[in-house]
Amino acid sequence: MTRRNPFPTALPFLPEKRSLRTLRQAAAECQGCDLYRNATQTVFGDGDPHAELMFVGEQPGNDEDLQGKPFVGPSGRLLRKAAAEAGLDPDRIYITNVVKHFRWEPRGKRRIHKKPSEAQMAACLPWLHAEIEQVRPRGLVCLGATAAQALLGKDFRVSRQRGELVTSPLAELVLATVHPSAILRAPDDETRALETRRFVEDLTVMARALRRGRPRAAEVHAPLR
Ligand code: URA
Repeated sequence: MTRRNPFPTALPFLPEKRSLRTLRQAAAECQGCDLYRNATQTVFGDGDPHAELMFVGEQPGNDEDLQGKPFVGPSGRLLRKAAAEAGLDPDRIYITNVVKHFRWEPRGKRRIHKKPSEAQMAACLPWLHAEIEQVRPRGLVCLGATAAQALLGKDFRVSRQRGELVTSPLAELVLATVHPSAILRAPDDETRALETRRFVEDLTVMARALRRGRPRAAEVHAPLR
């Protein structure tokens, strides 16, 4: 028996005339699934509109929900530091999530992250596809299993395939690695340091691949004949 998607989709909320600006404005009104009800606001992607590289996470967390920007909390700080160590240009990055509203459940006075359901992810995906279409990054990094499976298929295993460039119609260079929040949850400092190094190594694969494919200055400025 096929189960019906209990939620509609974001599709009818997407604007006809598309730019990152019109998409961001329209996403603020999205009711494509039920998550808008308990979230403070839509957290749309942010960064260089012509970024060479796009990072895709799972969904905004508590800090992101309150500030309205992706990866502004501890995971974001770790991501930016690791990206800089890997040699990625922080000014040429666009960061977004598969799901644009914070899904949470109360625990005492705190709001605890709850993984979005498959139906909620499917409902939200048109926003991400529209962002990819606008930014057209050369490189795309999926952070964690949720992003990897949403974009690369359910059979994708970050544990086995992390740090490997994979073929995908989404971008020229596509790679998945762990989510920085998984590193922050490491049981001790030693494991955290080791996992951070592996994360930087994965990002270095992307940084090198981006550099390899980039035209040299001499080619860029060569006069047309
Ligand atoms: N984790 C995510 O996946 N995305 C964010 O924006 C913040 C934390």
